Amino acid sequence: MTETTTRKPIRKAVFPVAGLGTRFLPATKAIPKEMLPIIDRPLIQYAVDEAREAGIEELIFITGRGKTAIVEHFDQAYELEATMGGRGKSLDVLEPTRIQPGNLVTVRQQVPLGLGHAIWCARAIVGNEPFAIFLPDELMVGNPGCMKQMVEAYNEVGGNLISVLEVPEDEVSSYGVIQPGKRGFGPGGALTEVLGLVEKPKREDAPSNLIISGRYILQPEVMRTLESQGKGAGGEIQLTDAMARMIGQQPFHAVTFAGRRFDCGSKTGFVEATLALALEREDMADEVRAMAKRLLGV
Ligand code: UTP
Repeated sequence: MTETTTRKPIRKAVFPVAGLGTRFLPATKAIPKEMLPIIDRPLIQYAVDEAREAGIEELIFITGRGKTAIVEHFDQAYELEATMGGRGKSLDVLEPTRIQPGNLVTVRQQVPLGLGHAIWCARAIVGNEPFAIFLPDELMVGNPGCMKQMVEAYNEVGGNLISVLEVPEDEVSSYGVIQPGKRGFGPGGALTEVLGLVEKPKREDAPSNLIISGRYILQPEVMRTLESQGKGAGGEIQLTDAMARMIGQQPFHAVTFAGRRFDCGSKTGFVEATLALALEREDMADEVRAMAKRLLGV
């Protein structure tokens, strides 16, 4: 058997949604950040759509207090559907919110101790399989989507993969940064070997300007590494630190995403995503362009 035929497929995705969303307060006091809509779909819906496009159907949400609206969103809304049906309205608009019974599992992260801790909370559900991670506040727009591009790369090289993109050097200290090795191979020349990872480095210490951008495919061994992972930057248990310890023991590659990424965890990124997507929608583009011109006085 070749290596490709023995590689386990990516069937499960973990969505850590237990963060406090402090940058969006007070909007996120009672509403999860992941339910904020870009036009007419909440952020979590874009991430779930991207997972399904990549063939991933088993969804694991790491939630916390005040996050039940996310689970409600993917539940059957009996009264709404009965009322709409009774009025002759189409239910097609609800189609993306439908999930096969048993395909959505939630796990509580009782205390938000960091992204690494949130992922570790999924260990029993993930079991002994490679799995995907989506940070839903990073909106990845591409065709094919980011995870589909990553799964294609995974089918070639296996191991662990993270999605990366270049940022200006003065922004690296806000992100996880990779130390790149060999570059430009694999599907579309998108792969880079990862030799090291560092979370939120000082600008002068950063090994590159390639930042980790919210999508991962990891081997289940990361759970054991997280088990013994101490606190890192910001006093949180960092996924980046645990991944860094796996380098050298397992293949580790970065995929440069062919598409656009919007940081919807920040206010300006959120506004940019809303405008960019509105300008691409056939049902709104003309009106939004005219409105933007009017507002800018051009
Ligand atoms: P962020 O760093 O964006 O934190 O987390 P946050 O709490 O969501 O937002 P701010 O910075 O306070 O505004 C990155 C991702 O990790 C999840 C978040 O939900 C988000 O998807 N996360 C973070 C957890 O699930 N648990 C944690 O303990 C920390």
